[in-house]
Amino acid sequence: MPSPAPTILPPDAAALARAAALLRAGELVGLPTETVYGLAANALDPGAVAKIFEAKKRPFFDPLIVHVPGLAEAEALAASWPGAARKLAEAFWPGPLTLVLPKRPVVPDLVTSGLPRVALRAPAHPAAQALLRACGLPLAAPSANRFGRISPTTARAVAEELGDAVPLILDGGPCAVGLESTLVAFPEEGGLPLLLRAGGLPREEIEALIGPVLLGSRDTAEGEAAAAPGQLPSHYAPRTPLRRIATAAEIPAARRAATALLAFGPLGVEEFAGFAAIENLSPASDLREAAARFFTLLRTLDHSGAEEIAALPVPETGLGLALNDRLRRAAHR
Ligand code: TXA
Ligand code: MG
Repeated sequence: MPSPAPTILPPDAAALARAAALLRAGELVGLPTETVYGLAANALDPGAVAKIFEAKKRPFFDPLIVHVPGLAEAEALAASWPGAARKLAEAFWPGPLTLVLPKRPVVPDLVTSGLPRVALRAPAHPAAQALLRACGLPLAAPSANRFGRISPTTARAVAEELGDAVPLILDGGPCAVGLESTLVAFPEEGGLPLLLRAGGLPREEIEALIGPVLLGSRDTAEGEAAAAPGQLPSHYAPRTPLRRIATAAEIPAARRAATALLAFGPLGVEEFAGFAAIENLSPASDLREAAARFFTLLRTLDHSGAEEIAALPVPETGLGLALNDRLRRAAHR
């Protein structure tokens, strides 16, 4: 684990001014958002953006989301706005939605990994909004974890992931949504929008507004792999191997002392028996609660000392689409 510890401050006026000064000087700041914590840098300064890749040990082929206060600032970075994209921004920004649109030349190629499109998001967390306005810069910010690992949903988890690679982390409390933003791309004029990553805004809410979006993922087709470079089969991975199971009965009594269980929904007494550790995403089967707790509980079980994490399934609707996506990638070795 990296050390020494970075400075963690509540986002009061003094801390926001200090964070804005760091960002203007080309340094990194740990940023609370409603989805997950980000590792932010001035998106218009390639030298600052390069520090993000270094700190995360992230490959340069994986582009970054640029954060802005709202639609007006986004328009300065994206060259064209299909009607459906504008509709989505008007309805869901600020919020857990990222739009991938043709970039303007002002966006450095390092931010988009040389792709002609830029990913844009207006975060809703008040500290993120306050920092964006205080520094007056668009902020490139990936999730503030080491590449391929569990996304942080608390300031402490950011410090655990990045140590002194980030000088200052603003502590905005635990993330309310808990899953990364939903990524929607508009590949060509008139073509169907692509859902590149299921996330904190359910697909159903998007389709209710703009009609069908195609599911696109790294796993399905070569062409789509180029469109969603960061959606690697292995991602969000705990250090402890994770296995997806259909029922707790799949784990025999003899294995339970070495197994930590990640559950969802009400569990019977027998299903609980004998496990090294158990965390329940939502005993009441509430997907919002499950999403908000997901990465924190995954981290807790990763630290439990068990040899293996066994994860029960989540229904494939609403936020369950994104939860199952994260579980699949966490299980992939
Ligand atoms: O909720 C979120 O989106 C968080 C918070 C901090 O805003 N950010 C986040 O960033 O999850 P990151 O870097 O961990 O994931 C961004 C995803 C990656 O899969 C990346 O490949 C994809 O977005 N992406 C970024 N720019 C892209 C682009 N121009 N075209 C296609 N995919 C892009
Ligand atoms: Mg990430």
